[in-house]
Parts: sequence; structure tokens; C-alpha cells
Amino acid sequence: TRSLRVALLGAGTVGAQVARLLLEHHDELAARAGVPIDLVGIAVRDVTATRSVNLPAELLTTDAETLIQGADIVVELMGGIEPAKSYILAAIGSGADVVTGNKALLAEHGAEIFAAAAQVGAEVYYEAAVAAAIPIIRPLRDSLAGDHVERILAIVNGSTNYILDRMDRFGDSMEDAQRVALELGYLEADPTLDVEGFDAAQKAAILAGLAFHTSVPAAAVHREGISAITLADVESAREAGFVIKLLAIAERITDEDGLEGVSARVHPALVRRDHPLATVYGGNNAVFVEAEAAGPLMFYGAGAGGVQTASAVLGDIVSIARRHIAGGVGVGESVAADLAVLPIGAA
Ligand code: HSE
Repeated sequence: TRSLRVALLGAGTVGAQVARLLLEHHDELAARAGVPIDLVGIAVRDVTATRSVNLPAELLTTDAETLIQGADIVVELMGGIEPAKSYILAAIGSGADVVTGNKALLAEHGAEIFAAAAQVGAEVYYEAAVAAAIPIIRPLRDSLAGDHVERILAIVNGSTNYILDRMDRFGDSMEDAQRVALELGYLEADPTLDVEGFDAAQKAAILAGLAFHTSVPAAAVHREGISAITLADVESAREAGFVIKLLAIAERITDEDGLEGVSARVHPALVRRDHPLATVYGGNNAVFVEAEAAGPLMFYGAGAGGVQTASAVLGDIVSIARRHIAGGVGVGESVAADLAVLPIGAA
């Protein structure tokens, strides 16, 4: 079999982990995908920069354009709108499939990118764009494709959840909780993106578009952050049996003229202590989906982190690789099952 050539754009916290995992697990991934997945290059701004992971120098290049031209799969993990958008469109134009974790780009220009991909039959996968490793894009796009999603209630910003949780469980003031979150590196370089709900609004736009089979731009998401919440608010909520969470909410609504539509919004909300979202502590994320036939479902886990987010990217790469090989391994099947079944308790 020929191999699939992967071009990686960006070697930051997530990109470096993706490169490491692709290289370290090369043979296992080849067995699972049915085709070798070869990392052929990593485009970075500065090849001499110090990175969290040691990457082979011969893979690094500053020439993203040339790298993209020779690739079967382009993995964009550089973030930001430009040049990420131009690179993704160039990749689609040259016949490559795309994996991206770029929530800001998808929330703003998703419709344009998906249309360009549809025109040439390219795939764009983005499981890493919302809630890191938590599988939520594929469940909404595939598993629930035959159902009718009514509502999504989600905690998709880990740092604000951490801040509110510290206030609730440790009695921190808003200022103290924010300082700890900053020290731990939970907040984005520009904390306003988290604290004022911009990050959550981008993720809400992506989830709403998927759940309701439409395009929801981030600008259409009503947004209110957590900066006005005080410890006194948190305490009176607790006395009344609630916890304050920053929720991303997307739901079907009907206006007074009977017009059906989608409402997407991000704001602090009172969550009853007995709701599953109330026990999402620390920097975790959770997406609570209410669907007509499936009923309530909750997806839960770490919502950030380099290696966690890389897990979602690797999954997307393997999914695309499987689609590439006609007559190859179907999803859910496995080959090279070289692990013996051991009796329970064996170590
Ligand atoms: N700043 C984001 C958060 C990182 O706090 O959840 C993950 O997108």
C-alpha cells in the first residue's frame, strides 16, 4: 500500500503532541488505519524555537505552502484566522483532506470552508475544536444524525469553570480565583477571551451549527461572561440549591409569529445541584445534549491540554485515513489484533 502524507501546520502545545504521537505510534496507527500515516513535515514560524517536545529538525520548515502541496492530509493547529484560513483553503484546493482544531476560524468562517470542501469532496474534521478529547463533534454529526436534537447545555470553557468552582467550593473571591487560574496557565494568553465568554461563544456556534444542521456564526451568539459574578452571588446561589456555571446554550425556539429557529447564547446560569452539570468540577468540560429519541446524554472530560487535544486530532487523522483506502478497514473493525486476551486479574 502507498502511505498517506500528513503535513502539520503549527507545533505549539497541541501540534507538538500530535507530531510526537504520530511518530511514536507510527506502526500501531498504520495497523489501525490500514495504511501507513507518515508525518512528512511540520510548518512553524521559527525552526529554532524551543518546544515542549523535541521534534526531528529535518521535519521542520517555514515553507507551509510547499508542504501543503505534497500532502494527503493537512493538519492545521496554528490557530488564528490568517494565514490558517488561506492554508486550509489551499489544502482543499490541492485535493487534501483537512483536520483542524481552530475553533475561532470555524466559528467565523466555517460555512465558507465547508462549502469549499464539499465542492471537491474533501473532508474537514474538527473534533479538537470543542472540548478537547471529549468526543462531541462526531456524536452530533454521526451518532445523532437520525435524531432530533432539542437542546444543548454545555460547559465548554475550562478556565471559567475552574474559577467559578473555586469560588463555590473554596470561597475564593473572583480576583483570587482568576489569579490562581492564571498562575496555573488555565487562561488563554488574553484572559478576556475566557472570562468574557468569547471562547465559549465560538464553541457554542460550532455546536449549534452541528446540532441543528445550519450555520451559526459566532457573532450571532449572545454572550455574557463571568466578570460581574461575585462571591456573594455564588453563596446565595448555593443557599438556594444552585451552582453558578458559565453555560453555552443552543436550542430550538419558536418566536411569537411561529417562526422556528435556533437560539445560541453564553451566560452565567443557575444550575440545580442535582443536575449532572453541577458536578463538573475544576477545569473540566461537559456537553449535555437533549435529543427527542435519545433523551438526555452527557459527554464529560478534560476540556483542554496539549496531549488531550492531540488525542482528538489523531482520531480525526485515523478516520480520514480509513476513508482513503477503498476496501480497507471499516470503522469499528480492527486488524493486527496482536494482543492476547488475558484472564481478569492478570497483570
Ligand atoms: N481557554 C480554553 C478553556 C482552552 O479554558 O477552556 C480550551 O479551548
